[in-house]
Amino acid sequence: MQTNIPNRCAAAAGGGVKPLRYTGGVLQMIDQRRLPTEEVWLDYRDYREVAEAIRTMVVRGAPAIGCAAAFGAWFGARDIDTDSTAAFLEQFAAVCELLAASRPTAVNLFWALERMQSFARSHADRPVLQIKIALEYEALAILEEDERINRAMGEHGQKLLPERCRILTHCNAGALATGGYGTALGVIRAAAAAGKQIEVFADETRPFLQGSRLTAWELQRDGIPTTLICDNMAGYLMSQGRVDCVIVGADRIAANGDTANKIGTYSLAVLAKEHGIPFYVAAPISTIDFSLTDGRQIPIEERDPREVTHIGEQRLAPEDIAVYNPAFDVTPARLITAIITENGVAEGDFVHTLPELAEGTKR
Ligand code: MRU
Repeated sequence: MQTNIPNRCAAAAGGGVKPLRYTGGVLQMIDQRRLPTEEVWLDYRDYREVAEAIRTMVVRGAPAIGCAAAFGAWFGARDIDTDSTAAFLEQFAAVCELLAASRPTAVNLFWALERMQSFARSHADRPVLQIKIALEYEALAILEEDERINRAMGEHGQKLLPERCRILTHCNAGALATGGYGTALGVIRAAAAAGKQIEVFADETRPFLQGSRLTAWELQRDGIPTTLICDNMAGYLMSQGRVDCVIVGADRIAANGDTANKIGTYSLAVLAKEHGIPFYVAAPISTIDFSLTDGRQIPIEERDPREVTHIGEQRLAPEDIAVYNPAFDVTPARLITAIITENGVAEGDFVHTLPELAEGTKR
């Protein structure tokens, strides 16, 4: 089931480690729960196992979850045993429903599953075997497009940054959270590649520690100067004038620009406002949920209390203490300076500027 294959050539190319790779009908995903101490790749061939990998955070980060779900859908489709297109579409919907139940907040999961299903429906005049083959290509297209999108986003975003820039980021919005390159870290990578003098402060991001385990690891491999801080140090740094901007990713953006991202993002946006520091969100158009008018409608996942009471196997809190563990919070649009997408940068009244940018993506 598992193979230890370091993937250092990707880092040398400045794109970071791609968390998913697909060959010979097998999806391999790096187990992000074990980074940075172990680089373990797990093999997936079954949609139920892919759903479990998303739920348990083997793979995480909004765009990466969407890519994994697309392959999960393909595995589910491959295993459906019928020649009837109607029966196939019905069973395929059940496969996608199971995958959709794995995590509630990142809209890219539902976006990818809807794309797979509407693709299948649009080929309903073909034999089931042909639909299946086409679905495998569609999952691959979603994965490959994601890295291209992130590189375009990086180019747009890096133009916002001055020649010398000290950036604070939260969670991991890097190559590991996407099909490759990253969203917030994509902007940082593109700025570094453009020759800008970049320094990063990475929040450790309690409780799951995506910042210390994943972001610090990714940026160190790329040779981008990075300083790890605890989440509660950000305000002090800003008050000392040591942060020029904040860049984060997003799990779901409502039509008005309200943005759900990793818990702690909202506090950073409030702090940035207080200190007059630009606060940027970098996310693909697929992260915008135009069906939600504002952020109050975004479902916020609550995770296992054990993530708060323990680090690894080590208990840090008393037995039976009450715990609240929301995995995300919502940053109101008024605190966001700009939203960076693959189609350009949205500023001002997001109710108008986001649909204008999204227009260019219609397939
Ligand atoms: O719980 P996670 O690790 O899946 O949360 C990830 C984040 O909050 C990221 O910032 C977000 O998905 C953007 S990733 C490009």
